[in-house]
Amino acid sequence: MNQSEHLLVEKNEGIALVTLNRPKQLNALNKALLSELSEVLESLRDATEIKVVLLTGAGEKAFVAGADIKEFASFNGAQGAELSKEGHLTVFNVIEEFPKPVIAAINGFALGGGLELAMSAHIRIASNNARMGLPETSLGLIPGYGGTQRLPQLIGKGRALEMIFSARMIDAETALNYGLVNQVVPQEKLLEAAQKMARSFMKNSIVAMGYAIESVNAGLLEGSLGYDVEVQAFGDCFETKDFKEGTQAFVEKRKPHFPGA
Ligand code: CAA
Repeated sequence: MNQSEHLLVEKNEGIALVTLNRPKQLNALNKALLSELSEVLESLRDATEIKVVLLTGAGEKAFVAGADIKEFASFNGAQGAELSKEGHLTVFNVIEEFPKPVIAAINGFALGGGLELAMSAHIRIASNNARMGLPETSLGLIPGYGGTQRLPQLIGKGRALEMIFSARMIDAETALNYGLVNQVVPQEKLLEAAQKMARSFMKNSIVAMGYAIESVNAGLLEGSLGYDVEVQAFGDCFETKDFKEGTQAFVEKRKPHFPGA
């Protein structure tokens, strides 16, 4: 296991488990934690042995209770905008565009920047005690780490704005009904469920998943031509070794062994 000040990183059989580790502050995202996370993401992106990344929070109470309010309480407008922009560029967009599946295992409160972090992941699994919300308007703010964009994409504009206006939390079952999370499991089974899902993905081509992520994201970005990106990415798949192996295995009636290239 690797440990930095605010993160634990465990790598096991192709899966990297990244645990945000400031439990006394409910894993609130301060600048130092985000900077460590940015570095870890960069190294996991390049690590060929890592196929899937899991994100979770330390302790039993919180995934992440938001951006660190104490750190930004005295910021002015320019500093606020910089905080948001840097977050997008170094962490949140990086996760959304990560070329391998990223699964958020939401083990408790996921509020503000915490829910925004989970929403930047490709998939969310919640423990049955999880509570999610965007409480920023209760602080005189709006969600600044992508929540105004990703929440409506996931649950629709009306429900998203209701959550933002009310600043209220929803429970795991409601999040499942809304489509905000993919699965809800008992807290003690959360990591097991995330690992099981990761392993089920790893039977398939991670390279192809990278292209799927790129194409899906392109369709959701305003002004971008998602179908064009899909056409190009589809064509690119034909040039990969994984494609050759996947189709060959089908023809030979055997399971594929993807080289991951
Ligand atoms: N920032 C900084 N510290 C936080 C925090 C946050 N977002 N959330 C919790 N903490 C700290 C508390 O200050 C407390 O620290 P101390 O013991 O040093 O006082 C510790 O974590 C434990 O929290 P509580 O005592 O408050 O625990 P609780 O069980 O009574 O309440 C809670 C839990 C309902 C989650 C409550 O902590 C809470 O409301 N937290 C803030 C949630 C929030 O507003 N998040 C949005 C942040 S703004 C944002 O994220 C902006 C953006 O989009 C970029």
